[in-house]
Amino acid sequence: MMMDLAPPRGTRDFFPEDLRLRHWLFGHFREVSRLYGFEEYDAPVVESAELYTRKAGEEIVQQLYDFRDKGDRHLALRPEMTPSLARMVLQRGKSLPLPLKWFSIPQCWRYERMTRGRRREHYQWNLDVFGVAGPEAEAELLAALTTFFTRVDLGPAEVGIKISNRKILQSALKKLAIPTERFAEVCVLVDKLEKLPPEAVRAEVQAIGLDPALMDFVAELFSVGELDAMAGFLGEDHPGVAELRRLFALAGDYGYADWLRFDPSLVRGLAYYTGIVFEAFDRGASLRAICGGGRYDRLLSTFGGEDLPACGLGFGDAVIVELLKDKNLLPALSGAVDDVVFCFNASLRAPAIQIAHHLRQQGRSVDLILEDRKIKWAFKHADSRQASRLVLLAPDEWAAGKVRVKELKTGAEQDLSVEQL
Ligand code: HAM
Repeated sequence: MMMDLAPPRGTRDFFPEDLRLRHWLFGHFREVSRLYGFEEYDAPVVESAELYTRKAGEEIVQQLYDFRDKGDRHLALRPEMTPSLARMVLQRGKSLPLPLKWFSIPQCWRYERMTRGRRREHYQWNLDVFGVAGPEAEAELLAALTTFFTRVDLGPAEVGIKISNRKILQSALKKLAIPTERFAEVCVLVDKLEKLPPEAVRAEVQAIGLDPALMDFVAELFSVGELDAMAGFLGEDHPGVAELRRLFALAGDYGYADWLRFDPSLVRGLAYYTGIVFEAFDRGASLRAICGGGRYDRLLSTFGGEDLPACGLGFGDAVIVELLKDKNLLPALSGAVDDVVFCFNASLRAPAIQIAHHLRQQGRSVDLILEDRKIKWAFKHADSRQASRLVLLAPDEWAAGKVRVKELKTGAEQDLSVEQL
């Protein structure tokens, strides 16, 4: 019986044409990171599980791929990169020059319920800034983000960025005298309003012993549409409002204000965000979030270290490809080679190898035909490899020091010496 040839559910094989697309996308991620002065880093895909097992009730923790290794260590496949980054920043400590701007494109693993654009593994472009306390850092991240979208031909008519600040929710804790230690838990719960009916969230609020009036106050906060109205409600000097005002002003300076939309109901589902949060979405509204991020000024102390101001974003490779597909914006990428080299018989194999070597030294990509084949096959093969030239070594021409070169686009043929070639 043939074994199941499909990869594990929720994971992908990357055939060459898929990998071409991935490289194209990552090329944009890398180039935008470079334009904004970010340096690339990496970390192991397997980490200690305790790096992720936060206790705020997050979905990401429930979806952890964790296991015990042969040394009985409790390990996990990383569901996200931020904890690894925090670990690396703590490891270097004070020797790291700040501010630090780093990026990565890790593969992340989450045992998700699968929907369009959500899988059990994905690659995630991460951009993070450590050491900048003000919204200037978020403004720079969003500039990089809109630069990426523009490069792949998406504009503010297709993609929007929702912005809010968790400090707005903090006022709910204050009003209802909920202890600040429960802030993360409250955020994770309130974020569930996106997916669950309000009664279900209300029941959870009660089940964990929080004041059910929380939900009424949150509903009131969420119904405030504009930042001006929120400023009226909470006061212009409320830190949540003031930071957003500053961010919108900076967005004007950068020139991407038309991408942004204040949305007080945006919370994001991760426990560690402490301030501004954001999410890019498809204005056609058919897909889940394209990317998300925010400020996390207190993550390092949860690992026992000294806190540093930090913010960042994670941008998956799945939703964006779906969106580009829908909009017919995926490029046609070829796996073409420059030259196919073919010899008519085995006695010409040695010079064929030398010709291929010579061309490769010139930087051309060469597919040397490795078996004894008929010329007809070589033509077909060159066609399927989308080669620009077929280089033929035939006995008579080679005896005269020449190779026959066929330009496959025009069909033009000529005999060239090795130097001319
Ligand atoms: P996140 O909101 O959990 O944030 O994920 C960020 C992005 O990763 C999502 O918006 C989506 O593009 C992609 N993503 C997440 N899960 C999946 C999945 N199962 N399948 C496909 N794509 C997915 C974080 O992970 C934070 N660590 C981001 C961050 C970096 N915050 C600060 N720095």
